[in-house]
Amino acid sequence: MKPRTSCVVGVQWGDEGKGKIVDLLSKEADVVVRFQGGGNAGHTVVNGREKFVLHLIPSGILHRGTTCVIANGVVVDLVQLLEEIRDLRKRGVEVGRNLLLSERAHVVMPYHKQMDALSEKTSAKKIGTTQRGIGPCYSDKAARKGIRVADLYNPAFFMERLGALVGEKNRVLRALYDAPPLEADRIWMEYRRLAEEVEPFVGDATTYVNEAIDGGKRVLFEGAQGSLLDIDFGTYPYVTSSNSDACGIPAGAGVPPKKVGTIIGIAKAYCTRVGEGPFPTELVGGLGDKIREIGKEYGATTGRPRRCGWFDLVASRHAVMINGIDELAITKLDVLDGLDEVKVCTSYELDGQRIDRIPVDAETLARCRPVYKAFPGWRADTSKVRRYEGLPKAAKEYLRFLERSLKVRVTIVSVGTERVKTIFR
Ligand code: GDP
Ligand code: IMO
Ligand code: MG
Repeated sequence: MKPRTSCVVGVQWGDEGKGKIVDLLSKEADVVVRFQGGGNAGHTVVNGREKFVLHLIPSGILHRGTTCVIANGVVVDLVQLLEEIRDLRKRGVEVGRNLLLSERAHVVMPYHKQMDALSEKTSAKKIGTTQRGIGPCYSDKAARKGIRVADLYNPAFFMERLGALVGEKNRVLRALYDAPPLEADRIWMEYRRLAEEVEPFVGDATTYVNEAIDGGKRVLFEGAQGSLLDIDFGTYPYVTSSNSDACGIPAGAGVPPKKVGTIIGIAKAYCTRVGEGPFPTELVGGLGDKIREIGKEYGATTGRPRRCGWFDLVASRHAVMINGIDELAITKLDVLDGLDEVKVCTSYELDGQRIDRIPVDAETLARCRPVYKAFPGWRADTSKVRRYEGLPKAAKEYLRFLERSLKVRVTIVSVGTERVKTIFR
């Protein structure tokens, strides 16, 4: 049987509107799976008059009958997860047997968050992280010094491991940051309590997802962050610490690559970035500020203002290649409604030469100047349009140019935050 799987991944630097699109597609999905990242994600879903921001729980949670899986590749802050569960329940959303947390997922420990914050505070070249402990937790995972969800249920092993780890962390905290020591016993007790609270959700997510796929269920993978924040293929070192594109699915969920299915790339009609790092099409001041205000471009996790700029075809072509994107969803088209002119970056200029591939290092990328193609604005309200044909001619020409340049068909156009403000083509 051909797997009925698909995934939603960000084509840019995150915040493309993945939450909105995953929520919409979840209506037709049996299972929605987060496979990487952690509480650094902020996925917004607007359901009627209510707005939900999800960080760890997949954006399919608002649909009854959809099971949400936090797979092994996610790094999980249990304090944040329980808070998210409580918040959702308080607002009438069912969270129970419809949530499964992988026993193989790594746990974000208090020292991870502390070290993330301290490293950002003291380092000369800041990344601008969300300070959710993501980098330190993945570092420990790779160094084989992590604590996995399953480890919490083996008290003696957990105690022994934590004791050794905290001893080591304390030496680092003191030497590098002159910070007070942590107490292993207190952390052990707190995490044993947290483990008890999350226990009803914990299970073998790998087998669950594979059996769901093999049993013909519709499984949707939800990417967090975006392709340009990918640890291998993004604008390193200004990236996150996981494979935040479709490449992350097999390892992050334990699903064979051949079963990943249709890859849906999500891109804004323009571009944003939060945190540090090169951003060739950034509009500083003026128009950039205007787009931020119209698009309400403030971080869903940290509230930081997002840097705004024009659509970047060089960077997006790279994302299309890495992910093997089959279809594109273009979001926030409505944000450009009032502009006289809309630009797209078609190539970069570097040291007097035109280049159309993204350079490997951030320093070189920072020296690239965008070469633009300008389009007349449509100066019309697209937020009420529900059929592709009904879009203004100039908007369709703009989208057609993106499609031709990326060699991918645009199948979804989003023209507002609410579910109804979506055009399926
Ligand atoms: P994610 O991280 O990719 O899920 O995206 P975020 O939720 O962080 O940021 C996207 C923001 O844009 C959210 O506030 C959404 O409600 C909003 N949004 C999504 N699609 C549209 C759209 O088509 N138009 C407008 N105006 N806002 C949108
Ligand atoms: P969603 O899923 C936008 C950025 C941070 C920082 C860098 C590293 O909502 O699209 P980290 O905390 O991961 O170590 O920070 O990555 N970043 C995001 N930017 N959207 C996100 O998630 C992000 N998650 C991390 O701003 O530049
Ligand atoms: Mg976001």
